[in-house]
Amino acid sequence: MVQLKDSAAYVLSMIGDPLPEIAIILGSGLGGLADELEEKIRIPYKEIPHFPTSTVKGHAGRLVAGYLEGRRLLVMQGRSHYYEGYTLRECAYPVQMMATMGIKNLLVTNAAGCVNERWSAGDLMLISDHIKLIPDSPLRGENIESLGERFFDMSRAYPEKLRKVARLAAQELGIDLKEGVYQFFSGPNFETPAEVRFARLCGADAVGMSTVPEVIAANHAKMEVLGISCMTNMAAGILENPLSHQEVLETGERVKLSFSALVRLIVKKWPLE
Ligand code: HPA
Repeated sequence: MVQLKDSAAYVLSMIGDPLPEIAIILGSGLGGLADELEEKIRIPYKEIPHFPTSTVKGHAGRLVAGYLEGRRLLVMQGRSHYYEGYTLRECAYPVQMMATMGIKNLLVTNAAGCVNERWSAGDLMLISDHIKLIPDSPLRGENIESLGERFFDMSRAYPEKLRKVARLAAQELGIDLKEGVYQFFSGPNFETPAEVRFARLCGADAVGMSTVPEVIAANHAKMEVLGISCMTNMAAGILENPLSHQEVLETGERVKLSFSALVRLIVKKWPLE
């Protein structure tokens, strides 16, 4: 907790008032949106005390505070992943820092493999729920009581109220927004075709290597969460072609205009207390 307070105090001192209303985490290939903010203040992760730093290509590794649609945001351009060697607890650290700062709303985005065969690469999916089968939790170990309770509900992890706003925004923009379940895989390898069939059997529509630790921590801290996956590729075994990070980045590039427009309108419509 002392560390979280240190990190939060540092970021607050760098960005000044007012407190950002919504935090956004931008996934692989989707980081460009941070450049659209007005009155930007950029803070590289490595300058924030105790903050995990990201090492992946396509992830910038900094916080950007600024305005979009008149709302003050704190955007993570890049995130730390479990496959980089961080623990799930470390992956969730930035969200716990945001909660410590007093931020109450979180929009998480990611690149994901599409498991639902009725959909295509390039589709955007609203996350309705998630599955994590690896036997670890970002909250394993001592509970930080000041953030939330030891045992807490995850039955409304992605509240309907916010999903409704996202659906409306997509409709206005003529975006065919899908909605479904995201399953967490540890990576760094893409899944095997058998694992993808298993994910489908589990009820997943998308597979990916991020987001879930952050959303668990956000729910623990009673933040309101909305999640959007960009289906950057059909998951392994669905099509003939081998999967690559290049494809992930290329699809991110292809959808970035509609992705940005959607996020912008969601931010504008986001119901604040
Ligand atoms: N699997 C897991 N993570 C991913 C994928 C995938 O197919 N595509 C982008 N992130």
